[in-house]
Amino acid sequence: MNGIQTKRNILVTSALPYANGPIHIGHLVEYIQTDIWVRFQKMSGNPCIYVCADDAHGTPIMLRARQEGITPEQLIARVAEEHKADFAAFRVEFDNYYSTHSDENRFYANTIYEHNRDAGHIARRTITQAFDPKEEMFLPDRFIKGECPKCGAGDQYGDNCEACGASYSPGELKNPTSVVSGVTPIQKESEHYFFKLGDFETMLKQWTRGGHLQAEVANKLDEWFQAGLQEWDISRDAPYFGFEIPDHPGKFFYVWLDAPIGYMASFRNLCDRTEGLEFDAFWSRDSKAELYHFIGKDIIYFHALFWPAMLDGAGFRTPTAVFAHGFLTVDGQKMSKSRGTFIRARTYLESLNPEYLRYYFAAKLGSGVEDIDLNLEDFTARVNSDLVGKVVNIASRCAGFLRKRFDSRLSEQISEPTLFDEFTQAGRSIAERYEQREFSHAVREIMALADRANQYIDDRKPWVIAKEVGRAQELHQVCSMGINLFRVLIGYLRPILPATAEKAELFLKVAPLSWADLAQPLANHEIAKFKPLMTRVEKAQIDSMVEASKQDLEKQAEDSPEAASKELTADPIGETIEYPDFARVDLRIVEIVKASRVEGADKLLQLTLDLGGETRQVFAGIKSAYEPEQLEGRLTVMVANLAPRKMRFGISEGMVLAAGPGGSELFLLSPDAGARPGMRVK
Ligand code: 2FM
Ligand code: ZN
Repeated sequence: MNGIQTKRNILVTSALPYANGPIHIGHLVEYIQTDIWVRFQKMSGNPCIYVCADDAHGTPIMLRARQEGITPEQLIARVAEEHKADFAAFRVEFDNYYSTHSDENRFYANTIYEHNRDAGHIARRTITQAFDPKEEMFLPDRFIKGECPKCGAGDQYGDNCEACGASYSPGELKNPTSVVSGVTPIQKESEHYFFKLGDFETMLKQWTRGGHLQAEVANKLDEWFQAGLQEWDISRDAPYFGFEIPDHPGKFFYVWLDAPIGYMASFRNLCDRTEGLEFDAFWSRDSKAELYHFIGKDIIYFHALFWPAMLDGAGFRTPTAVFAHGFLTVDGQKMSKSRGTFIRARTYLESLNPEYLRYYFAAKLGSGVEDIDLNLEDFTARVNSDLVGKVVNIASRCAGFLRKRFDSRLSEQISEPTLFDEFTQAGRSIAERYEQREFSHAVREIMALADRANQYIDDRKPWVIAKEVGRAQELHQVCSMGINLFRVLIGYLRPILPATAEKAELFLKVAPLSWADLAQPLANHEIAKFKPLMTRVEKAQIDSMVEASKQDLEKQAEDSPEAASKELTADPIGETIEYPDFARVDLRIVEIVKASRVEGADKLLQLTLDLGGETRQVFAGIKSAYEPEQLEGRLTVMVANLAPRKMRFGISEGMVLAAGPGGSELFLLSPDAGARPGMRVK
């Protein structure tokens, strides 16, 4: 595969978001990643089509609509508009954005089902499931609650316990109730249709080792092969919002059967509106086109096993590659509504420029499945120093002189061809980084060039030359050179920063930059008046976004108090750790001997802790819940072997333990009477 020299025909998809909720910044990792890759392909001259759709079927969507007192069709139409507006604002540019609730999708779902059925890959069997006798519907695991069979915790879902982390089947739950009606579910039989995944074992083993997956993903699949490929239940009983199975009235395709088929449907819908675009050229078994799916690591099973098998069984081509990415954490933790880090796309847009987030994600993204962290302080620092301080600054340092002294016209020739060549030569490696989805490396290389450009201007000091008589030509050359270097940098950043690049193109008075254009400098060319292309991120903007995100939770609480209270009280249990990992954490009883406010810190208290002889200074984010005076003399628990952390106000030598969502609802842990400072907590 050579991304630069030969033209390719590429079809790209991102996972289809569910049509029952808003887009949040966690979703955006994927859409921004995909969009950058697609824009890079387009800029390189490769025909590349990017399609997506809303994932509109399933029980949650049906129930959500019911709860709102509207039809599912009305719900999905409204959400589709919201999703499209959010994507457009973040400059995620689909060639088509469609819906799985469409005629095209029904057609391909039926086709794929029928071909697989006729080839013997569909089995039928009767199974027993939880059934809500009041609502007369079968209940998915997430719609049954009860007491955990392992630890007894109440109010737990039918598939796993958020208190102790146990996984179980809904039948094991004690005192189960239906989330939909509150009644006790009964067990009821029904006939279901199964896709015989095992029929595809040989094909899948080859495919998953055929260079279509990242190495770590292929390794994960080995575990699944070892566990054995299970038949997959592709049917659901009425009432269900989805497609009725053609030959089985009252039975519907499970949402995950028709969801990936939505990729085909969206593309088909585009073909029907686009002259010369042929569906078969992309989807027939002998297609030469490239087909890529960008997805989150949680849905690998669907995309790397079910999907290629279904396609193969129905006589279609399989994907060229599936690219999985990790999840987003914010400030090192899972996004949390109560902390205000579960940030909706809309809420972000009220405070911040979408280009910042595109840049920050690009600066963090690699080709692997590791999670990426949005550290809000680092976000601010990086955007300000890289984009505003380095890139935009180059243009602003040169443009004024050109306007005042040279009628905004660039010099007839560039004065430093070697330096210019260095910039254009770097384009090969940067292009390769984009191609390989190593965006963080691309960004690093581009920023090294930006440093180089600023260094050039610092060395040549146009502000000094400007004041000296007889050096006008030199001034003209230095500033023209600076603008040329800026142009190349903006070209390289264009897939990441489309809106900024457009503004720069207006300033440079050039057509949309292509990768190939960048090798030719601009000479004897008039540019426009410089307007700042981007402003700095201010801390106040971040604070207001976090605050607004907390308010989103409150609004949600009014709509659905149950879901919101869950958010407030219980972040889900994270991944399990082994005992030796736990044993490495040295927890000690300590006495708070002194507590004081910290000047300039709105969340912190400074604590002096006695560990039974030894004292420690700790900065704890508990100011919103405690007056310092309340704390002195009280016992609590600290992590005593946490590496010291340098904070703005001093060094913090450990951490005290508190529970709760935050704000005034924060509860410092206390031992029972009799515990003494220094005792180890086990
Ligand atoms: O996990 C999800 O959010 C699904 N809606 C993704 C579907 S991707 C594809 F298969 F449609
Ligand atoms: Zn439990």
